[in-house]
Amino acid sequence: MTIKRPRGTNDFLPGETVRWQDLENKLHRLCRQYGFEEIRTPIFEETELFARGVGNTSDIVQKEMYVFQDMGGRSLALRPEGTASVARAYLENKMQALNQPVKLYYLGPMFRSERPQAGRYHQFHQFGLEIFGSNSYLADAEVICFAWDFYTSLGLNELDLHLNSVGCPKCRPLYRQSLQEFLAPQKEQLCTTCRERFERNPLRILDCKSPICRELSVGAPVMLDQVCPECEEHFRKVRNTIDEAGIPYILDDRLVRGLDYYTKTAFEIQIKGIGAQSAVCGGGRYDGLIEEFGGPAIPGVGFALGLERIFLALESQGIGFEKEPQLDIFIATMGEAACGKAFTLAQELRQKNLSVQQDLLGKSLKSQLKSADKQGARFVIIIGEDELQSGLYQVRDMAESFQELVPDEDLLSFFCDKLGK
Ligand code: HAM
Repeated sequence: MTIKRPRGTNDFLPGETVRWQDLENKLHRLCRQYGFEEIRTPIFEETELFARGVGNTSDIVQKEMYVFQDMGGRSLALRPEGTASVARAYLENKMQALNQPVKLYYLGPMFRSERPQAGRYHQFHQFGLEIFGSNSYLADAEVICFAWDFYTSLGLNELDLHLNSVGCPKCRPLYRQSLQEFLAPQKEQLCTTCRERFERNPLRILDCKSPICRELSVGAPVMLDQVCPECEEHFRKVRNTIDEAGIPYILDDRLVRGLDYYTKTAFEIQIKGIGAQSAVCGGGRYDGLIEEFGGPAIPGVGFALGLERIFLALESQGIGFEKEPQLDIFIATMGEAACGKAFTLAQELRQKNLSVQQDLLGKSLKSQLKSADKQGARFVIIIGEDELQSGLYQVRDMAESFQELVPDEDLLSFFCDKLGK
């Protein structure tokens, strides 16, 4: 029996990986413009990090993590998200001693054992960023603007920014209680998941997709009506700044997010037309996370986006990708001696920053030319016995269907001129 890739994972083949690189390069560039620096953390962490960070009551920790034991009996987990790891790394590497705020970003695979469907995978890829050390509303607004800027720069439409405040440890317990009181008489009618959530995480009942739970929660108390004056003031300033930046948003009192660390601002961007998994990014403020890990009271705010869902959105909106020509020069050879010459020449041309390939299969000249054409080569150099003796090489311009003889000693300057290197 042949072995297949695990369920919920993907192979990205060369035609797709160029698109991934393109998107990643755009993100690296935007990070430079906004002053974020890259951080790389391990793919797995101690399970405890996510239990404490993402939260024991969250679905992610309760049922979606890939947990395993190492040889020493330690419990480890494949990272389901990046924020907890980056907060741990900030603290462990004493980044609080650096000039604040510290602005970090990351890109890489995350793992969640959710039921796979379009846009939802067991291994998926996130780009995320975090700002540590600023409790200013401007940091929240900057993070939201970054996300909005990125999606619009890709030409995506039909974006909905959902915004809410989930309060803080001062005001949320009171809200939680009033929500439980409201839902208590109907508790038995809630879906199985929400019946469990009733005690451990009643706010999540608000964003349950089940029509019955949605119906039962109509008229429930609204968090924004009950936030403390500090949270209210903060949220008002975030909204004003987003308004001034000209970014439209939907005030969404059902947006509670699936991770327990959030305080104050919570947001998501959703895109229509990519199916049930329409959230292309999500984030918010998490002022208690560093303390939860045993550090000082350092506030944080950030977001993460799923790269697979961007590709789905680009495809559903018919946004193409301009593929750059892959190959500058193909060297076609006839005979053993020509192969040796081609090998040396290819190395010299690559030193000049040109992309060069030669035949590695001993194909006929005709097949080599076909192959060069398939690879989109801009030029072909033909080397055979005659060329080696005369020191003059046939160079074919594939775009212009033009051929000329170039002396050996002029080859490098010829291509540097033609290809602008
Ligand atoms: P999240 O909302 O759980 O937030 O994930 C962020 C994004 O990752 C989602 O909006 C979605 O695009 C993508 N995503 C999540 N799960 C999957 C999946 N199974 N398959 C494909 N894509 C997925 C976080 O992870 C927070 N750490 C964000 C954050 C950063 N908050 C503050 N800083």
